[in-house]
Amino acid sequence: MNDTRTNDAQGLAARAAALDLLTAALARRAGLDEGLTHPGLKALSPRDRAFARALVMATLRRLGPIDAALQARLQKPPPERVVNVLRLGAAQLFVLETPAHAAVGATVDLAAADKATRPFKNLVNAVLRGLTREPPDLADPNLLAPTWLYARWRTAYGEDEARAIAGRIAEEPATDLTPKDPAAAESLAAPLEAEVLPGGTLRVGLKGEVSAWPGFKEGAWWVQDASAAVPARLLGVQPGQTALDLCSAPGGKSLQLAAAGARVTAVDKSPGRLKRVSENLDRTGLAAEVVATDAAEWTDRRRFDAVLLDAPCSATGTFRRQPDVLWAARPSDIASLAALQSRLLDAAGRRVKPGGVLVYCVCSLEPEEGQPQVDAFLARAPEFALDPIGPGEGGAPEASLTPQGTLRILPHHRPGGTDGFFIARLRRSA
Ligand SMILES: C[S@@+](CC[C@H](N)C(=O)[O-])C[C@H]1O[C@@H](n2cnc3c(N)ncnc32)[C@H](O)[C@@H]1O
Repeated sequence: MNDTRTNDAQGLAARAAALDLLTAALARRAGLDEGLTHPGLKALSPRDRAFARALVMATLRRLGPIDAALQARLQKPPPERVVNVLRLGAAQLFVLETPAHAAVGATVDLAAADKATRPFKNLVNAVLRGLTREPPDLADPNLLAPTWLYARWRTAYGEDEARAIAGRIAEEPATDLTPKDPAAAESLAAPLEAEVLPGGTLRVGLKGEVSAWPGFKEGAWWVQDASAAVPARLLGVQPGQTALDLCSAPGGKSLQLAAAGARVTAVDKSPGRLKRVSENLDRTGLAAEVVATDAAEWTDRRRFDAVLLDAPCSATGTFRRQPDVLWAARPSDIASLAALQSRLLDAAGRRVKPGGVLVYCVCSLEPEEGQPQVDAFLARAPEFALDPIGPGEGGAPEASLTPQGTLRILPHHRPGGTDGFFIARLRRSA
């Protein structure tokens, strides 16, 4: 086989894997995460795998404007898989800026390679050529988020904040690390080309394979967004205290608590995700008791000095790293997740010692998963009171402090962006 044909075949395999990954990401919640472990993707060379992933992320980060541009050219919507081929083609043209003849040719080849999309290859060719003649505006802030989510953000936070949130959707986030020893942050920063953020998070300038970065093998740090590192700091655990991390996998917050010297119990209902907690503990040389169970049904009766509930949520605050959450979320998910959070908060409250502390957090931007959850819990559990968080405590951006003393971190609250979170701290009196 000559070199050109080998390259073409490799390019096609990478695009076909990108098509499967995009289809999985848009079909269901957590589809992107699952799709990244698909054998088709793993079988690719590292370079093709990186290309497939980058192409899908570029598509998801501009999905709203891409879909608006495609809709304007499609009289009758073709099958979803064909739309996904077109979405990938548009992202190659206007986000990755692949030369038009190469992007259109490769996308038509992708359509032709599968019998489900082959009958539409002329349509793919015509639509993409039309787009190259009249390039769409992929930066239109009104199109970046799904309409229903944008309307919710406008209602919850106002027009300016909603626009600022949506403005972060198209951006590629930096990687943040939490150092095992907070005192080592400054010395780790130089080899990682990192900036030390308030609270001690390292915002890394290096790119590429994380496992090749200085300090990974030694377990000197773990990947954790700057916002995600705030809740565990707010517990203020002391060496020797007991700490329970409910909903703990993959374990970033358990690692923080163990690194602070607490005796940690890490619970999660997913045995598969708990494996990642154990791997992270091994790599960092930290210890925790790991328990696979549903936190709401856990029969253990122990009480702890500190309890952290990082509840399952719509995860809309994580769109910088997981842009699929915006497109896979459904309004009905928010209501059912809010009901689950309320059950888990009750279970978490029962595990707190008198005088102990409970931190509740969600990586969601949706109001129902935040303050109203805490208000309703306090009404059900009079033995708890809100313990107001102080300005800048835990490294949180000051703009995120609410009048109640809880945190509502929005993605634009930190220069360079950050994950959206709601965080509250409660104390048990009796
Ligand atoms: C937001 S993630 C937790 C992230 C984790 N705290 C960290 O910092 O790495 C939510 C976790 O909740 C777990 N989960 C969902 N429902 C649960 C339940 N009823 N009991 C225990 N864990 C649950 C999921 O498996 C998932 O790992």
